[in-house]
Amino acid sequence: MIIAIDGPAASGKGTIARRLAALYGLPHLDTGLLYRATAAALIGADRDLYDESAAVAAARGLGLTDFDEVVLRSREMGEAASIVAAMPGVRHALLEAQRAFAARPGGAVLDGRDIGTVVCPRADVKIFVTASAAARAQRRALELAQRGERADYAAILADIQKRDARDSERTAAPLRPAEDAVRLDTTPLGVEAAVAEAARIVESAR
Ligand code: C5P
Repeated sequence: MIIAIDGPAASGKGTIARRLAALYGLPHLDTGLLYRATAAALIGADRDLYDESAAVAAARGLGLTDFDEVVLRSREMGEAASIVAAMPGVRHALLEAQRAFAARPGGAVLDGRDIGTVVCPRADVKIFVTASAAARAQRRALELAQRGERADYAAILADIQKRDARDSERTAAPLRPAEDAVRLDTTPLGVEAAVAEAARIVESAR
């Protein structure tokens, strides 16, 4: 069973994907980390984030050591990731590894922006997770504060809106729900209710 979870930043898709993976005993890939690691590799090599050929080389050269989650999950890296993620060459370089992950025997859960539309168009279950920008900014502020990062609500909201626009307006695999995705608005839901609703969607699809 392949479960594709897409949605904008801080919509709850990562938590839902992790919890569904645990529930069904499936491996989980947070594909945002691949774009974040690509951006981190460029920054680490002191290269321009807008240099597409350097970005493609960084994406092709990703190794397991590039995945320091504490660094990758910072606000700055989310912003940098959305810059390199708009480049068709970068997306192409990362596609095969994502499809290979999805093709594991037994299936997998993948979350990102284009899983249901591009990476796994034939996924068994597709969920498009949304939430209001205000709710997402609040959650992200809480998450950052818990990690001890500076968390200014207004700055986070502005970041989220900028990232939404960049992710949905790009021509390469823009953020949009697949036609056959089930939408899940988590604005009024706590984590447990959102996960329960996602599990219900999975059950009714299989
Ligand atoms: O999901 P996360 O916030 O970690 O993703 C960081 C950035 O990576 C997103 O803003 C988006 O630009 C990009 N991304 C993407 N396609 C994916 C996953 C992430 O374009 N499948």
